Amino acid sequence: MIIAIDGTAGSGKGTLSKRLSKRLNLPYLDTGILYRKVALEFFKAEKKTTINFDNETVERVIKVIRTINFTNIEDTNSLRDDKIGLLASEISKIKAIRNILNLKQTQFVEDSIKLKEGCILDGRDIGTIILPNADIKFFITASPEVRAKRKLKEEGRANLQPHEQNCMFNDYLLKINQRDENDFNRENSPLKKAIDAYEIDTSLLTPKEVEEIAINKIYKKKT
Ligand code: DC
Repeated sequence: MIIAIDGTAGSGKGTLSKRLSKRLNLPYLDTGILYRKVALEFFKAEKKTTINFDNETVERVIKVIRTINFTNIEDTNSLRDDKIGLLASEISKIKAIRNILNLKQTQFVEDSIKLKEGCILDGRDIGTIILPNADIKFFITASPEVRAKRKLKEEGRANLQPHEQNCMFNDYLLKINQRDENDFNRENSPLKKAIDAYEIDTSLLTPKEVEEIAINKIYKKKT
């Protein structure tokens, strides 16, 4: 079974994908990590957290991509850094870069079908561009405020003073809104709910509840 999962940053799509991958014994690819890896290596090479969109810069990004081994990217704190996430979302606007990373994703899908007759991919354009014929598609959302609160908790900021927590919350909220703005409004493969995707708003749900909703949809689809 081929499962496509799209959604906003921090909506819980990664958590759902990992749970489904374990439960259904299907290979999983977090496609965001490909964009993050390119952003991190570009950042290391150029020491810049912003990017220009001229041909010369695109060529330099492509040069960086050629040095990356995309099989088994280790998920590190530097890859998860906010500034790398934001740079990844800038870099992902470039069509030539998307085309290269799309090939890596297609290769993963082909290998997984041979090995396990299916896979799970999550990202922004999975249901629309990468896997338009997926057996089932999900679109995961949560309010920006909930996503900022989750991040605050994840980062273990619970022991901060209320005014410090408030300050961090506002900072996370700003970054989340900036990423949504980039991902929804870019010209190439913007984040969009596929017409046949099931939307799950995770704002008021636990990871287990989200998993059960998705599993019910998957089982219904199978029968
Ligand atoms: O899922 P993530 O937050 O790790 O993704 C980082 C950025 O990569 C995201 O803001 C946009 C880009 N991305 C993309 O354009 N297409 C994908 N399929 C996955 C991620």
